[in-house]
Amino acid sequence: MKSIIEALNWRYATDRFTTDPIPEQSFKTIMEAARLSPSSMNFQPWKYISIQSPELRQQIFEAGYSQQAIIEAPTLLVLTIPNILTKANVDHIITASAEARKADPASLDGYRKMLQGFIDRTEDGKFFDWSRRQAYISLGILLLTAAQLEVDTAPMEGFEPNKVNQILGLTDYSAVTLIALGYRSAKDTHQTWPKVRFKMEDILEVR
Ligand SMILES: Cc1cc2nc3c(=O)[nH]c(=O)nc-3n(C[C@H](O)[C@H](O)[C@H](O)COP(=O)(O)O)c2cc1C
Repeated sequence: MKSIIEALNWRYATDRFTTDPIPEQSFKTIMEAARLSPSSMNFQPWKYISIQSPELRQQIFEAGYSQQAIIEAPTLLVLTIPNILTKANVDHIITASAEARKADPASLDGYRKMLQGFIDRTEDGKFFDWSRRQAYISLGILLLTAAQLEVDTAPMEGFEPNKVNQILGLTDYSAVTLIALGYRSAKDTHQTWPKVRFKMEDILEVR
């Protein structure tokens, strides 16, 4: 397996994919990494949809400005987040916490109040950006894990979210990113492009 820095240098936003499928074990590991991602208060406000239907793939391709990766890659994920957070989200976390920690849910009342308090004082319009921030932690971990396993990825925000929501019949969730996964094609010229990143002193300030 590649080291983290090797993997980050190796990966690039892949433009053209081969049709070779990803081994099931690699896909499982990539999704497990996304599942294990941390989030504020442990809300885990994300859901990935794996698109297997060729008809859905075609429609998403059309809603995604015809980006080749959407149609070419063997695997396509749609990262979705909840439109708003509700008591149901709180119940989900409390149930999962009680189960994992073998605790009586009643003993988690303080935690429940803290979670519900966050929901109560957040305006509806602010949940979406907040959830997107949490979901992108999981997206980053997913991209890194894929690179460590030498699986190529193309994260894409270039699509019409309303159209993709409609195609997938989403009502409570909305699509925020498409992620194509697979293997770089020899005809993808982007793989030869030198990586462009700011210098360390541009991104790290010491005081
Ligand atoms: C959240 C996200 C969304 C992106 N959306 C697109 C996209 O829609 N189309 C595209 O060609 N590249 C997209 N990119 C790729 C970036 O342009 C690319 O990651 C960046 O230029 C750095 O290059 P590298 O990933 O090849 O190192 C996206 C990247 C991220 C992280």
